[in-house]
Amino acid sequence: MSELVIVSDEGPVRIVRMNRPEKKNALTMAMYDAMAAAIEGAAANPGLRCLLIAGHPSAFCAGNDIGDFLKAAGEGGALGAPIMRFLYALARNELPLVAAVQGNAVGVGTTMLMHCDHVVASSAARFATPFVGLGLVPEAGSSLIAPRLMGQARAFSLLVMGRPLSADEAKQAGLVNSVVEPDAVEAEAMKAAAEIAALPPQGVLASRRLLRGSRDDIVARIDEEAELFKTRLQSAEARAAFEAFMLRKR
Ligand code: COA
Repeated sequence: MSELVIVSDEGPVRIVRMNRPEKKNALTMAMYDAMAAAIEGAAANPGLRCLLIAGHPSAFCAGNDIGDFLKAAGEGGALGAPIMRFLYALARNELPLVAAVQGNAVGVGTTMLMHCDHVVASSAARFATPFVGLGLVPEAGSSLIAPRLMGQARAFSLLVMGRPLSADEAKQAGLVNSVVEPDAVEAEAMKAAAEIAALPPQGVLASRRLLRGSRDDIVARIDEEAELFKTRLQSAEARAAFEAFMLRKR
């Protein structure tokens, strides 16, 4: 079996690549753990100056594995420890985070971008957070970060109404920095990562801390969302939505 998350260091840039294209990079517990470890581990490596999260040309990330959600719903509804580890790693991470988005970014595929500092998207990328349609609530601190980033109206449309954003709309909403042709995404993201890595590192870290503000607020919101998520995961609404997704092709 090929590695589901591929971590490679290219000079001062650590690339964390989701690699489950046959399932559109839907995240399993093992993938959350691997991504969390890659982010946490970067802090301990003084040679690293920037992280780059990437997916596959066919999909950035289709969100949490819905089969795992269904399983969690039958086991008390708690988000697994690997999910929480990944969300805390994102929130507490100090290094600049760049993302290269091709294809769909769904659920946590989109909310993880709210923790990123520079997002390059393919003109064909699409961003969606269908939490409420699945009987769930937003996660990853997105209920706090999104209204700050794009304003209440656009955050409501995305996170509550579940209306997707095109790449251009995501740029207008402040989620994405640049929109390029699909085959230019990775090079453009790497260019931005290298540019950040070439800046005086302590100045970058101190400035990023200022711009990001309190991480305690984000972590507290992640916990608050996770409590609600747990209740919602066990709801009849959520189970019906997950089952419908799992059965849709049969
Ligand atoms: N969990 C589990 N499996 C998933 C998945 C997910 N979140 N997203 C996609 N897959 C699987 C599909 O079941 C399918 O598996 P199969 O080939 O064994 O049938 C495979 O990945 C390919 O997906 P498919 O739907 O055929 O690809 P698509 O290009 O038509 O659509 C998406 C891509 C991402 C738009 C669509 O798969 C989707 O909506 N996924 C669910 C996203 C979601 O709701 N995530 C949870 C957010 S909280």
